[in-house]
Amino acid sequence: MQILDGKSCSEQIRQEIADQVSQLKSKGRRPPHLAAILVGDDGASETYVANKVKDCQQVGFESSLIRFDKSVSEAELLAKIEELNANEAVDGFIVQLPLPDHIDEHKVTVSIDPRKDVDGFCPENVGNLCLGLPTFVSATPNGIMELLARYNIETEGKHCVVLGRSNIVGTPMAILMSRNTNPGNSTVTLAHSRTKNLKALCAEADILVAAIGKPEFVSADMVKQGAVVIDVGITRLADDSRASGFRLVGDVQFDSVAEKAAWITPVPGGVGPMTRASLLQNTLKAYLRN
Ligand code: GUN
Repeated sequence: MQILDGKSCSEQIRQEIADQVSQLKSKGRRPPHLAAILVGDDGASETYVANKVKDCQQVGFESSLIRFDKSVSEAELLAKIEELNANEAVDGFIVQLPLPDHIDEHKVTVSIDPRKDVDGFCPENVGNLCLGLPTFVSATPNGIMELLARYNIETEGKHCVVLGRSNIVGTPMAILMSRNTNPGNSTVTLAHSRTKNLKALCAEADILVAAIGKPEFVSADMVKQGAVVIDVGITRLADDSRASGFRLVGDVQFDSVAEKAAWITPVPGGVGPMTRASLLQNTLKAYLRN
């Protein structure tokens, strides 16, 4: 088994971006600017957004964090989005999800200017992805494709099973892997909670992407000998033996699956850091495009 090391790969990407930013700055250009809107005080969202701001600082981007109380009205949030759409000093922005129940996430997503939608969530960008047109691909699938590319993992003609059909990960991942690209050109099965014979299906996969959000769901008997296993899950499980009181686990039973896999992503240190690097790549792309 070999590790698909998302941590070191993402550090390489970050360095490439930082080099590009310092070249831009040396030519007197302003740096790329990412803004993030955070509504409420959800612990996980706080961490994700704080990391996005930290990542921007590390590569030399400008960043803005715009916070709203969880009681903010939908109209007020939409007004801020309009303001960011019009602000030429902001290249891209994200609205951290989930949002409080009284705010319609779809309304929010569709109001972001597609040219600034570095999350790649809006219908125009998802549509472009389906058509193979230039777009922003959402960060996690984009990061996985980058990881496969940088490790030269052969995907052409392989059977790729994607577990989970979310708009953010599973669905775009299935589209990307089926495209006439490298990586890509796989024969893709998009499996989900209603799929019959799930275990047997997964065991036929040459490439298995686990993105169902169920900790340690994928056991060794669901994995073919020599498969490439990509673990998108990340869940905190209580663990008294750790100083932190918890450990992070993915959707895959790592130790036993690693014995059968040819390549596997660890949790943490696999897909997570690649997702973070992808948002930076998309922001730089938005800056260069606009
Ligand atoms: N919530 C969980 N993941 C994401 C993400 O990639 N983007 C946004 N905006 N919200 C999220």
